Amino acid sequence: MAGWSRDFPATGLDARTLLEEPLVFFRLSSGQLVAFEDRCCHRLAPLSHGQLEGDSLRCLYHGLRFAPDGRCIEIPGKTTVPKALQVRTFPVIEKYSAAWIWMGEPALADESLIPDFVGVDDPTWAMLPGRMDYEANHHLIHDNLLDLSHVAYVHRKSFGEGNRERNEAWAKASVQITELPRGMRFSRWIEGAPSPPHSAAQGPQVDVFTRYDYLVPGVLLLSTGYYPTGTAPRYRAGETLGTPIFDSFTCQAVTPLTAKSSCYFFAFGPRAQHANMKEAFRDLGIKAFTEDRIMIEAQQKVINADPARKMTLIDLDKGPVMYWRLVDRMLREESASMTA
Ligand code: FES
Ligand SMILES: [Fe+2]
Repeated sequence: MAGWSRDFPATGLDARTLLEEPLVFFRLSSGQLVAFEDRCCHRLAPLSHGQLEGDSLRCLYHGLRFAPDGRCIEIPGKTTVPKALQVRTFPVIEKYSAAWIWMGEPALADESLIPDFVGVDDPTWAMLPGRMDYEANHHLIHDNLLDLSHVAYVHRKSFGEGNRERNEAWAKASVQITELPRGMRFSRWIEGAPSPPHSAAQGPQVDVFTRYDYLVPGVLLLSTGYYPTGTAPRYRAGETLGTPIFDSFTCQAVTPLTAKSSCYFFAFGPRAQHANMKEAFRDLGIKAFTEDRIMIEAQQKVINADPARKMTLIDLDKGPVMYWRLVDRMLREESASMTA
């Protein structure tokens, strides 16, 4: 994910680095988003220092002008343009409130591989979008999102509201992990947890069901539903879930900026009929995701101090281990199909 669609301006140039690649984004008069390598093919000046002229981009070092497909269409003072003068472009598609970019060989771009995201504009939920940059490698952020066992500790003050009983219930709850064709599904029940304020009218305790899918290349879709106590055992015995007392949803995506920095996109909110609570959810999300960022950036510093030091993985790390196995398998299958 290159960014939330709404964050790419309607006019002007927007420079951002993704996967170590300096890029410049701009919109055509039709609104279509285009991504160029931020490097003029002439003498390598940044095109983000250039200017848009209609749907073309002029480098403001020596004035070469480029069409939306990257071809040079004008050299000032010359009547012909060598065919080889071309800036690299990257396929971009806007879907589910976000811009998705393919950083590989353009001919291999396959729109059907964009995960079925549920974006910030989805009418079911009242969400506000956010973005947080990390001074950390993206692997550490994926690992964090693939692991529910940190929630009771890192988020003891935000999601846990400093409620010891609730944090203990979360820490003890076991997680079910199943593999999806291009990701993993995590579900867990927290039974008899103290009711949070928005569902307290139903009694002092609730059963909480959290389910999320983590999809390649790093997209998370998570819903949390609060149910009357006793729902969890009935569900396990085969009953359907029914309507929750209250539920919320969050969509998130992780994109590497460089090997040392990453970008985390998120939106978090209640159902549309509770839109009056969306700012409160956005603020809670920012508080909680900042807790993750502080821990992960600190973890990255410890790793940098001695990169050879190995982690000791335990049963709690099943999610990340299964996910990276899946990614390795997909990479092997991909390279086998390319050499075949
Ligand atoms: S470097 Fe862009 S026109 Fe010369
Ligand atoms: Fe977290």
